[in-house]
Amino acid sequence: MNEITIVKPDDWHLHFRDGDMLLETVPATARCFARAIVMPNLVPPVTTGKLVAEYRQRILSARPDGSSFLPLMTIYLTDKTSVEDIKAAKAAGAVAAKMYPAGATTNSDSGVNSLESLYPVFEALAEENMLLLIHGEVTQKHIDIFDREKEFIDQHMVKIVERVPHLKVVFEHITTSDAAEFVLSAREGVAATITPQHLLLNRNDVLDGGIRPHNYCLPILKRQSHQEVLRATVASGSNRFFLGTDSAPHSKDKKESGCGCAGCYSAWSALELYTQVFEELGALDKLEGFASTHGPDFYGLSRNTDTVTLVKETWTVPESIKLPDGELIVPFFAGKEVHWKLKA
Ligand code: NCD
Ligand code: ZN
Repeated sequence: MNEITIVKPDDWHLHFRDGDMLLETVPATARCFARAIVMPNLVPPVTTGKLVAEYRQRILSARPDGSSFLPLMTIYLTDKTSVEDIKAAKAAGAVAAKMYPAGATTNSDSGVNSLESLYPVFEALAEENMLLLIHGEVTQKHIDIFDREKEFIDQHMVKIVERVPHLKVVFEHITTSDAAEFVLSAREGVAATITPQHLLLNRNDVLDGGIRPHNYCLPILKRQSHQEVLRATVASGSNRFFLGTDSAPHSKDKKESGCGCAGCYSAWSALELYTQVFEELGALDKLEGFASTHGPDFYGLSRNTDTVTLVKETWTVPESIKLPDGELIVPFFAGKEVHWKLKA
């Protein structure tokens, strides 16, 4: 097959950042995605209805002329989030709340320390027909970084899903066979997103032959056996799994540093790379479900009506992207070939 046309996809997990960076990140995503779930881990985080509405407006203003791209907003949960905050976020257009365990990842210092006290908030989310999006890693420093996702499932995920039976839960950017199996066997109303990097790479791609900071993201890439399970999972076509790029730009300086930031900026290549993976798996017929229909169906939103076409054509991801202020970003897969291209 040399060409594939699918219902226009959505990105169910990404980081646009803020300020001038929006002029880079919003067009990059709007080029091929109709909607995107926008992560709220700004500094300071998007913790109130007012902040949700203002951030949404800044994203809308950064759209290219004529673009009908729609940001789907989220509120950032802290130990202090109240039921009123959830209602205000809903009124401001948020469709979900994002829970970061405190200290789990980039800008998560204000995240949640005590899950127990948040149950009224989880109940409120279910009541408001909003989803709970979870960064599923424990933050206990004595737990090995490669085991933190599995630990989170055992310590917390099972409990949250059981105790709030009507809450829709998305296990964000899963990286392990444990998470894939958990989601598959969980009750109705539990799903997961999977990034391009976790389908394409494994931990050797971060550490073998030298440290590769541009493949460093959280949750960290796992061993190849986990990657294989994730690949088989998307190839199965299960509607519990959908596209979430976790596109997360950091400047070149901040990535190539003695203590480099976590995150891969994949917006310019993610859809093409997912297509490449599905082709490698002999599962191009499952791409549309993963990219375009499982997500809206799970969120309870309408499917897009436009389409996009990808053609089999090799191109090379640029080595870097220069922002208007001169700052450089090294995109995910920089300098490497991609074998599918979005048709203009
Ligand atoms: C994300 C970021 O940079 O905001 N980084 C990442 O490695 N994925 C945060 C996150 O989603 O964990
Ligand atoms: Zn993320």
